[in-house]
Amino acid sequence: MKNQLFINGCWVAPIKGGSFDTIDPSNEVAIAQIAAATKEDVNLAVLAARDAFDKSGWPELSGKDRADYLRRIASLIRDKQQLLAELEVRDNGKPLPEALWDIGDTAYCFDFYADLAEKLDDEREKTVGLSDERFSAVARKEPVGVCGAIIPWNFPLLMAAWKVAPALAAGCTVVLKPSEVTPLTALQLAEIAREAELPPGVLNVITGLGAEAGAALTEHPGIDKLAFTGSVPTGRKIMQAAAADIKNVSLELGGKSAFIVFEDSDITQAVEWILFGIFWNKGEVCSATSRVLVQRSLYPALLERLVSEAERITIGCGFENGVLLGPLVNATQYEKVQRAIALGVEQGATLLSGGRRPAGKDTGYYLQPTIFTDMSEDSAIWCEEIFGPVVCIRAFDDEAEALASANRSRFGLAAAVMSADLQRAERVARKLRAGIVWINCSQPTFTEAPWGGYKQSGIGRELGEWGLNNYLETKQITRYDSQQPWGWYIK
Ligand code: NAI
Ligand code: MG
Repeated sequence: MKNQLFINGCWVAPIKGGSFDTIDPSNEVAIAQIAAATKEDVNLAVLAARDAFDKSGWPELSGKDRADYLRRIASLIRDKQQLLAELEVRDNGKPLPEALWDIGDTAYCFDFYADLAEKLDDEREKTVGLSDERFSAVARKEPVGVCGAIIPWNFPLLMAAWKVAPALAAGCTVVLKPSEVTPLTALQLAEIAREAELPPGVLNVITGLGAEAGAALTEHPGIDKLAFTGSVPTGRKIMQAAAADIKNVSLELGGKSAFIVFEDSDITQAVEWILFGIFWNKGEVCSATSRVLVQRSLYPALLERLVSEAERITIGCGFENGVLLGPLVNATQYEKVQRAIALGVEQGATLLSGGRRPAGKDTGYYLQPTIFTDMSEDSAIWCEEIFGPVVCIRAFDDEAEALASANRSRFGLAAAVMSADLQRAERVARKLRAGIVWINCSQPTFTEAPWGGYKQSGIGRELGEWGLNNYLETKQITRYDSQQPWGWYIK
């Protein structure tokens, strides 16, 4: 199963027979050979999804019937939670408790969209009041068609669920391309779809390299919609490819999210959420609060406590008990983060803590939790997404300054604000230019609530009812009800 592609309900070898390795980042050892899809395989997968959409009756099924499939998938994911979580740890490096958490969320996501699929049966059509009584109209929601879903490596199976579950609930068919860095659990999802007896072609999973399989998917004329999560440069390429035939696109891209901590905050709470905001999932989180703004009177005490807590974080292989920081996902990412740290030092920031390979960890892509201060507002480490366990901290004097600094970014995915004064926190939350704002916390994510970014952090929203709408078109059906002739040409 591992070295094959899942197309039209069957496991098939890639036409050209190519493969690539996926690596365990805790020991740098190859764990599996994975099929490398080329343009020809992508074409077969899109044709299968196209046929399933146009001919299998999948989009015409009732929401209730599609919900049954989604619930079966959710239940199979729960049955295999331990196996899936362990694969995620080996492929991505994250600590096992985090991986178990991801898989629980993944199953819940399928159940959640099963409920929305059922609701769609009642809410699919809405009467539209028209200004001319001779006519009546309804607005009707219909599936957008064949979707190409391209996902990253930081939450491998969860990111698949965020796209596949609402797409299937809406009545779309899907070609899913997981990241070449972490393909293992997406292949399991394909097997789960087969076990759930999802009709052939409704979900296809093709593993392959971004520039080859990913690009072929974005260029294929048989795709109606592209849904992407990943980096800004790749998002830009996807939008360019989509422009050729005006495909519907939704993008969830990077961020450099700010966390404003006011001086009336409880220091323990502030430190806890700052740590969670940047070291959870190794900081390989699009919404990580990697820019922290602390009000000046709290700044020295907060820094002292933050450094002492960060230095206590247990680093190691995700399977070891008590580990809170696993290895970065691969060599490329490890080098990218190390370069960012070196550049930070070069540009004059103070490396307050971490920044190096931990003692005694000679193999694996391990990095200490890293804290920088005293950087200028236009320095690379303050402005650019690093996507690793690196946090930048600056002091501020008043609310207006903090807000201006937080909003001075080409990104706008997330932001957080902490204060004992809830009025102030609510006021600041409304002025932050970001799609997700946390008050008195950072990162908790709920399947029910909209997720996505302003500015260069993306287009469209995932999760909740917004995530379902992502996969729906709206059609108007307008009827002439009058018995009177229209009488324009024929009097
Ligand atoms: P990427 O954005 O290049 O890859 C994400 C997905 O896009 C993968 O499935 C990849 O195969 C695919 N892809 C790559 N090139 C493509 C192309 N030309 N056409 C179609 N699909 C293509 O991200 P990558 O290289 O894994 O990581 C690079 C940086 O991206 C990271 O250092 C991080 O800063 C950022 N990133 C952001 C994520 C987010 O959630 N916002 C997730 C992962 C990475
Ligand atoms: Mg891997």
